[in-house]
Amino acid sequence: MNKFFKLGALLAATVAFSGCCGTCCNSDTEVSSVDAVIETIMTRRSVRDYKEEPVCREQMATIIECGIYAPSAMNMQPWAVRVVDDKAFLDGVTAIAVEQNPALKEQPGFRNFFRNAPTVAFIACPEESYSGEYDSGLLSENMMLSAWSMGIGSCCLGSVVPVMNSEAAKPYMERLALPEGYKLLVAIAFGYPAGDVPEAPARDASKAYYVE
Ligand SMILES: Cc1cc2nc3c(=O)[nH]c(=O)nc-3n(C[C@H](O)[C@H](O)[C@H](O)COP(=O)(O)O)c2cc1C
Repeated sequence: MNKFFKLGALLAATVAFSGCCGTCCNSDTEVSSVDAVIETIMTRRSVRDYKEEPVCREQMATIIECGIYAPSAMNMQPWAVRVVDDKAFLDGVTAIAVEQNPALKEQPGFRNFFRNAPTVAFIACPEESYSGEYDSGLLSENMMLSAWSMGIGSCCLGSVVPVMNSEAAKPYMERLALPEGYKLLVAIAFGYPAGDVPEAPARDASKAYYVE
């Protein structure tokens, strides 16, 4: 299924569920002219298979800038972002993860613990913060969407956090040099997709509705 057909099907399902009012939407709208932001949102998927080449640092700079332009409560920007494209670093953490869970190596095509990504952003926020986790989530999504708009795949990796917080990974945490009082929230894998981008896992549209 091509990208536009997939997008058309997704949007048709959304309109069918929400019951378009018939005046706000032009039913003749061509799928190919759907707003680029909506197209990026609807076609982004978690990518778990990457080419070995790290993401070009110029593109990564754009991704980071898009991240920090996310909204945050009172513009506090309660986050810290550390990007690693050093293979030795990622392989070192992988060795620790495999030591803790040898079954990881049995995953088909396993190269590293970051879903084989060559570039990883570590996202941290203050341990004590009114909106740190929420704001960092917004930053993370901005990063992933801007990446996808340039054809760069990504995947949030919560599974990285306990490994990075383990005693064995202390030297790697130290290299991240997070500000005092910050905790690692998530890692985000980035890279050029190696294969087909997966289908969207099912969404439950009943979780959101108008209160009449
Ligand atoms: C906070 C968070 C943590 C996640 N952790 C992992 C993870 O450890 N490993 C993984 O493969 N995917 C992880 N994911 C990706 C989700 O599985 C994925 O977003 C979800 O299945 C929906 O698929 P989609 O992103 O392709 O739409 C995580 C996503 C989020 C938001």
